[in-house]
This record gives sequence, structure tokens and C-alpha cells, in this order.
Amino acid sequence: MNDKYKVIGPLYDFLAMIFSAGQIDKCKTAMHDYIKPDDKVLFAGVGQGIDAIEAAELGAHVTVVDLSESMLNIFRKRIKGRYFTHPIRVVHQDILTFDEYGQHDFVYANFFLNVFTREMVTKVMEHLIALAKSKGHVVVGDFSLPSGGAVSQLFQNIYWYIADIIFCVMAKNAFHPVYDYQAQLRQFGMEIKDVRSFRFLFDERYYSILAQKG
Ligand SMILES: C[S@@+](CC[C@H](N)C(=O)[O-])C[C@H]1O[C@@H](n2cnc3c(N)ncnc32)[C@H](O)[C@@H]1O
Repeated sequence: MNDKYKVIGPLYDFLAMIFSAGQIDKCKTAMHDYIKPDDKVLFAGVGQGIDAIEAAELGAHVTVVDLSESMLNIFRKRIKGRYFTHPIRVVHQDILTFDEYGQHDFVYANFFLNVFTREMVTKVMEHLIALAKSKGHVVVGDFSLPSGGAVSQLFQNIYWYIADIIFCVMAKNAFHPVYDYQAQLRQFGMEIKDVRSFRFLFDERYYSILAQKG
């Protein structure tokens, strides 16, 4: 399996920390207060997985899926020797072949959907929704859709494209504008229940969206 995160994977969380002054980490766990003990929580494209570890600390049954063996090795090192009420299940697989449909209370896509092309992101989002239970939730944490005045939008776009270009080069992510995840979730019949925003450098940069399945 081609591991696109072999080089940048070990640096990922450190880069996210300095690029956002810690706001990316806050965004990734923003909806954790909805998680209850014994809930089934899936993290798609988990990466180094601080969000998954915090969910496990809340007593959830956590499954993490990632295509990158090097990312998962970092995650495994982080949880080595740790005790959780329910041990975390680690799956090395393409999320599109992970077929435990209708079984999850929460499906997380933190800074995951932005790696895909526009065509693929629709396919992946539909798949993530199918993995959630009826009345279950999908959580998307990512770059906010640029909003406000022209100058504000310009800076939000520049901020996004700096990150996108780095990951295009280093991990072969897709090159694209910021996606409107709320609109896409609604197109699939999801109801937006909560949105929490995170500011950095005088403006909103990231948000976490909690959407519920009908
Ligand atoms: C931009 S990183 C985000 C990681 C993590 N969610 C975070 O917020 O720190 C994207 C992650 O998605 C993984 N990934 C990319 N395509 C994938 C796929 N088709 N199935 C599963 N994981 C995938 C990558 O290996 C990488 O770990």
C-alpha cells in the first residue's frame, strides 16, 4: 500500500500545532461533549489520533481507520501501555472498503475530507454517513468556508492554500478551494445540529460540524 504520509506523517501534529496555535487540536475534540460512555465512535483517517484517544478516555468504543501505516504506527505508540475501558481498535484500511454500515453513534472526519478531489469527497461523505447508525452523527472538523468581507475571505483563502499546497506536494492531497461541508451534509439529508468555530489571526479559521442522520 502506497504510504503518502510516510514523510509528513511524523511531523503532522507538530505542524498543525504551530500553523494554528493549537486551534486545530481544539477543533478536533470540540464535539466530544456529545459522546457518552459505551458509544461506538469511528475515526476515519485518524492520523496521530489525539481526538480518538480523548474519545476512548470518555469510555467510548473507539475504532480508528487509516490508510497510512506510518500514521498508525505513531498512533499505536501513543496508546501503548495506556488503559481504556474499551481497548481502541486499529484498522489499517482504505475507509471506502470499511463496510460496518449503520453501526456507529459517531463517525468523525477531522481534517480528512479535505485530502480528496471534489468528486471523491462526495463519495467519501456518502460512505461515512452510511457507516453511522440511524439517528447517529457525523462530525466534520476542517477549515471554515471563507466568509465575511472581501479582505477577510482573501486572507482565509490564502491561509487555506498555504496548507493545501504543502500537503499537495508532501502527501499528494487534492488541490481545491475550501469545500462547503455543511451544504454537502445537507444534500445527503443530514441535519446540522451544532457548529463550533475556532479563530486564529483575527478571523475564523476552523469549524467543527455535528450533523445527525434522519
Ligand atoms: C490530513 S490527515 C488528518 C489526520 C487526522 N484526522 C488529524 O486531524 O490529525 C489525513 C489522514 O487521512 C488518511 N487517509 C487518506 N486517505 C484515506 C483513505 N482513503 N482511507 C483511510 N485513511 C485515509 C491519511 O493517511 C492521513 O492520516
